[in-house]
Amino acid sequence: MVVQTQSADETRALGSALAAAARPGDRLALIGPLGAGKTQLAKGFAVGLGITDTVNSPSFTLMAEYRGRLPLFHQDLYRLSGASEAFDGGLLDERQDQGVTLTEWGDRLDGGLGVGRLDVRFELLPDDARRIELASADLDRYAPYLEIAAGWEARARGAG
Ligand SMILES: Nc1ncnc2c1ncn2[C@@H]1O[C@H](COP(=O)(O)OP(=O)(O)OP(=O)(O)O)[C@@H](O)[C@H]1O
Ligand SMILES: [Mg+2]
Repeated sequence: MVVQTQSADETRALGSALAAAARPGDRLALIGPLGAGKTQLAKGFAVGLGITDTVNSPSFTLMAEYRGRLPLFHQDLYRLSGASEAFDGGLLDERQDQGVTLTEWGDRLDGGLGVGRLDVRFELLPDDARRIELASADLDRYAPYLEIAAGWEARARGAG
């Protein structure tokens, strides 16, 4: 499923819409280059979960936790040096089973996130646009996100 956004506002709106699908234990890997919009999507996702605290990049803590409709765990692996640091840094925590985990640079931990995740892959396009692709090997769990993205894209096309 591929979605395009034209601005940071739109990427946050997409994140907020996707949060309606969130269920305990979900894991989303946010993948893409610096400045792609991973944190913008996470900010919107938090709003969609009813989180009022501001979500920023958790680069220096590896993982930040927020309270909303479900707990949100926001991870950033950009500075990750290896798997042992990931585990020492509390990257995997049984509380994540009760909430939803968004992992920026989730591709930095080879296989570490497992196949039971939704990949959200960002590419930069000209003029602030972003191509955002959602894919998962676990459609039993993640199909609702793809449906929301499909509806969102159909509306964006209709409006544009
Ligand atoms: N369509 C768009 N979607 C998201 N962000 C956009 C878009 N157009 C412009 N931007 C800008 O791009 C930047 C994206 O920053 P953001 O922190 O979300 O990136 P990131 O992928 O998290 O990067 P990093 O790898 O450094 O964490 C912001 O300054 C945002 O305003
Ligand atoms: Mg970021």
